[in-house]
Amino acid sequence: MLNIVILAAGLGKRMQSDLPKVLHPLAGKPMLAHVLDNAGGLNPDRIIVVVGHGADRVREAFAGRPGVEFALQSPQHGTGHAVQQAVPLLLENGQDDVTLVLYGDVPLVQAATLRALLEARAGGMSVLTEKLDDPSGYGRIVRNARGEVERIVEHKDASADEQRINEVNTGILAAPTAHIKDWLTRIDNNNAQGEYYLTDIVGLSVQDGLPVHASHPGASWETLGVNSRVQQAQLERSWQAEQARRLLEQGVTLADPSRFDLRGSLSCGRDVFIDVGCVFEGKVELADGVRIGPHCVVRDAVIGRGTQIEAFSHVQEARVGEDARIGPYARLRPGAEIGASAHVGNFVEIKKSVLGQGSKANHLAYIGDAQIGDRVNIGAGTITCNYDGVNKFRTVIEDDAFIGSDTQLVAPVTVGKGATLGAGTTLTKDAPAGQLTISRPSQKTIEGWSRPVKKA
Ligand code: UD1
Ligand code: CA
Repeated sequence: MLNIVILAAGLGKRMQSDLPKVLHPLAGKPMLAHVLDNAGGLNPDRIIVVVGHGADRVREAFAGRPGVEFALQSPQHGTGHAVQQAVPLLLENGQDDVTLVLYGDVPLVQAATLRALLEARAGGMSVLTEKLDDPSGYGRIVRNARGEVERIVEHKDASADEQRINEVNTGILAAPTAHIKDWLTRIDNNNAQGEYYLTDIVGLSVQDGLPVHASHPGASWETLGVNSRVQQAQLERSWQAEQARRLLEQGVTLADPSRFDLRGSLSCGRDVFIDVGCVFEGKVELADGVRIGPHCVVRDAVIGRGTQIEAFSHVQEARVGEDARIGPYARLRPGAEIGASAHVGNFVEIKKSVLGQGSKANHLAYIGDAQIGDRVNIGAGTITCNYDGVNKFRTVIEDDAFIGSDTQLVAPVTVGKGATLGAGTTLTKDAPAGQLTISRPSQKTIEGWSRPVKKA
């Protein structure tokens, strides 16, 4: 059985925040969610999150995640004490039972690195270690004359010689569950910090004749922890750079990989171009040849082949067909479905509406709760009046209709196929197919009228 224990009880004082540290986001999702997702990649039998500071908020944020249990550590007496709180929840069936310990504030450790760590265990214990130019602050890996891991000494307890060791403990380790339980009853807090150190189980393993193997992360950013906003910002950049690198390797062009943000998943076809300053959130799919202009925000959207989204557009929960042109300054809101070769121009907002193939709304319009056919032209300043303050109503505009500028369509209302609405129409009744409908009062000129003049 594989148990994963995630330590997340610490205060995170240096974040200077009311939000529990592990709920702070990285790439748009809480750090703890990254750890849970990566841990989930190992198909563990159980995940136990040790909570303490802000326990209720952390529990609430992840309540209902299948396979995740919580153990409370209050007060906090160190990492060994933290794992002790999870002991009653550890699953065992005797067959190669193993417990893997992760940190909630080390969000990016990848499943492949953890798999390698578990393999390195070879029946014994394994620790994830790394060589650092500046190892200060970390626990040091003390090896014997044969180069075998002997114990871990915390920075504050280390002798001057030990402080020169540059191989450090990342904190992540794996060991047989039954042994962990036993060792945790044997550690004490006679050390510089008066804490129960999880790291002391390494020495106990060696004493018990169980070998300790070291394994190393695939990339150095995987084991970086977040203790402050500065580290959070740095890790965010490292992760964005990594995501950008992966996309570049898949053949996506990023105008500037250092000005790219992905907070979710982005799948791209061939020859996709993304200009600077774009933010992708949720699940976004860009088909072959899509071009995204600078400073667009795209969230939970599917964009068809060859479509261009121009600068400063905002697309959320929308689908856009092939060869369409959106923006600049367009806003597609949830439920917008834009057909192939359609154009949506500047300052056009579309919500819960279908815009058919080849239809155009090029300037300054609001289209909500509407079904718009193919080859329709929506003039500048057109508004669907879909809301009476309580209820929403639908507007239907059939194929080949022409909606003159500054028209209000007071829904529910239907514009028939091929109908034309004159500019300035306030449409309150259905407009028949193929005909011109206009509601504007006829123009008149008042003869002999003169402008009032100010009296001196
Ligand atoms: C720990 C390791 C050190 C390692 C370093 C890597 C120990 C004794 N030391 O030191 O060898 O180099 O991490 O960053 O394990 N936590 C709890 N309850 C507690 C104490 C901590 O849940 O009582 C959690 C924290 O929230 C954090 C993690 O454990 O996620 C590590 O705690 P931290 O205090 O940062 O450990 P370090 O002293 O840095
Ligand atoms: Ca730390």
